[in-house]
Amino acid sequence: MVGTTGVSKIVGYEQPPSPVSWNKRDLLIYAVGIGAKADDLNIVYELDKSFAAMPTYPVVLPFKGDSQELNLFAARVGKPPPGMPKSNVAVHGSQSIEILKDLPLASGPGWTWSTKYTGVVENKSGIILTSESALLDPKKVPYARLFSSSFHIGAKATGDKFSKVIAGPPQGKPIPKDRKPDWSVQDKTSLEQALVFRLSGDYNLLHIDPEIGKRGGFGGVILHGLSTFGFGARALIKAIGGGDPRSLKLFGVRFTAPVKPGDALETEAWEVGPGPNGTIEVAFVTKNLTSGKVVLGGGIAYIKKASPQAKL
Ligand SMILES: *[C@@H]1O[C@H](CO)[C@@H](O)[C@H](O)[C@H]1NC(C)=O
Ligand SMILES: *[C@@H]1O[C@H](CO)[C@@H](O)[C@H](O)[C@H]1NC(C)=O
Ligand SMILES: *[C@@H]1O[C@H](CO)[C@@H](O)[C@H](O)[C@H]1NC(C)=O
Repeated sequence: MVGTTGVSKIVGYEQPPSPVSWNKRDLLIYAVGIGAKADDLNIVYELDKSFAAMPTYPVVLPFKGDSQELNLFAARVGKPPPGMPKSNVAVHGSQSIEILKDLPLASGPGWTWSTKYTGVVENKSGIILTSESALLDPKKVPYARLFSSSFHIGAKATGDKFSKVIAGPPQGKPIPKDRKPDWSVQDKTSLEQALVFRLSGDYNLLHIDPEIGKRGGFGGVILHGLSTFGFGARALIKAIGGGDPRSLKLFGVRFTAPVKPGDALETEAWEVGPGPNGTIEVAFVTKNLTSGKVVLGGGIAYIKKASPQAKL
């Protein structure tokens, strides 16, 4: 146990900014890692006349940093803030990204990643830690703002119900119960999906070594939650944004169940109102198509709807 003072200091604590960088090749590798297909040329082919970055790309930057080399997963992202009680294991609980400006195809030097811890919520089984991050260009102009939460199983602060939250992502509207989805997209992850996704920077062994997956109780390798996240974003861009990656301005989910490489997925989306700046607000879920189990829950997106004639 650490006591209330220790954990309350976490809230508001800022990690020192860290350098990040990417190039066109990183964008291509990421696109394939989130299941881009041979006809998704505007995200997998650098010479396509509308080639653009997937707006969700920044989520891998805290793993990749500014290196082109492999890294040890735990060294970069696993580092807890000072005052954080020990836990047995941490799982990614939720992630959202708001795109403030379209990403350039290559960063060049001088970009940074900043993270501030925005909340600590304790319950009987552990601690939920929430943070807000920003991707900043060399002049400190923010291009993306991200909220993330992780659940640290076994961590104890006061043993009671300590809770302090100072900021969080936009809250979505619930899925309408009275009507079928306005859009539905089916897609399949490949057996090699995790092998490709890890090349974007998350080299956690759970995603490649079947023995480690078995010991973790998953019966083998599981796909990175952030790869499934990208599958969901691709589905909405394709179905609603006319295939234009620049259409997506906000994308947020809760990670509710694991996906195995090879699983088929279905994303169902409902238009639930106007969003900011000429977008619509969308509520969505992504399911394991075969079992029906929700893998991305509580989905919220702001997206510019393509006019019918602009559809690819
Ligand atoms: C504590 O919070 C986590 C993450 O939201 C949740 O999965 C877990 O069921 C909660 N445990 C209890 C005992 O409420
Ligand atoms: C997804 O559903 C299929 C069919 O029920 C099942 O074989 C597969 O294991 C499920 N994936 C996970 C991660 O549970
Ligand atoms: C709307 O667009 C303006 C200008 O691009 C931007 O400053 C603002 O943050 C956007 N609003 C939201 C809610 O995204």
